[in-house]
Amino acid sequence: MTAQLQYGTTAKIFHWLIVLLLLIQFPIGWLMPDVHGGKPGDAMTFHVSFGLTILAVIALRLVWRLIQPVAPESSLPPWQRLSSEAVHGLLYALVLATTISGWLFASFRGWSLSFFYIAPLPMLASQSASAVKTIDGWHQAAEWALLVVIALHVAAAFVHVFIYRDRIIQRMLPG
Ligand code: HEM
Ligand code: HEM
Repeated sequence: MTAQLQYGTTAKIFHWLIVLLLLIQFPIGWLMPDVHGGKPGDAMTFHVSFGLTILAVIALRLVWRLIQPVAPESSLPPWQRLSSEAVHGLLYALVLATTISGWLFASFRGWSLSFFYIAPLPMLASQSASAVKTIDGWHQAAEWALLVVIALHVAAAFVHVFIYRDRIIQRMLPG
């Protein structure tokens, strides 16, 4: 399949939709009360519902990326082409890791939760107190790794805007 030179509208909508959803999801994760042994509340329902929305959107986005490949900007030096592609791959992988570890987390807790109060949430595994501890660590590691790689990605975008003063940022902007 021949790669396109530019991101299309669909790829741009997917990109900024994920940014928006993560801007909602991280604060909910940090601010929601610790559940400990009790019952999960509304904040947890919203956290898992937004989380599963993110999982669905990133899966669709990845499929779109695979059927509509976009070539790296040809004016970039090879090390930047390679490193940006590696960072993009890592971003997809870490969003998947964060959402799937979160879903396993809620499953091992044995909670019954709904998707935005519309329908019961299917669980991936049955309750397991020993697995909860492990998966808690994984969810936290995935969240933080995702945050660090996002910071790197955004910093690189700003370096292109303010230091190289090239048009890389335009590739992901409308028009
Ligand atoms: C990219 C998506 C996600 C992000 C950025 C995210 C972020 C966070 C953050 C910041 C926390 C608080 C720190 C911690 O205890 O680890 C957290 C906790 C948690 N998240 Fe997520 N999360 C995501 C997806 C999900 C999904 C899809 C689920 C479940 C379906 C989920 C379930 C949980 C659970 C059960 C907790 C722990 C609550 C507790 O025991 O106190 N997360 N998440
Ligand atoms: C202010 C925030 C952000 C800015 C300014 C930004 C900017 C950009 C730009 C300019 C590109 C195109 C790079 C190129 O042409 O090589 C891009 C691609 C990409 N961005 Fe962001 N980004 C931001 C936030 C995020 C976040 C939070 C994620 C989290 C998943 C993300 C994931 C990606 C991915 C995966 C690609 C590659 C797209 C693909 O090839 O499918 N970005 N971003």
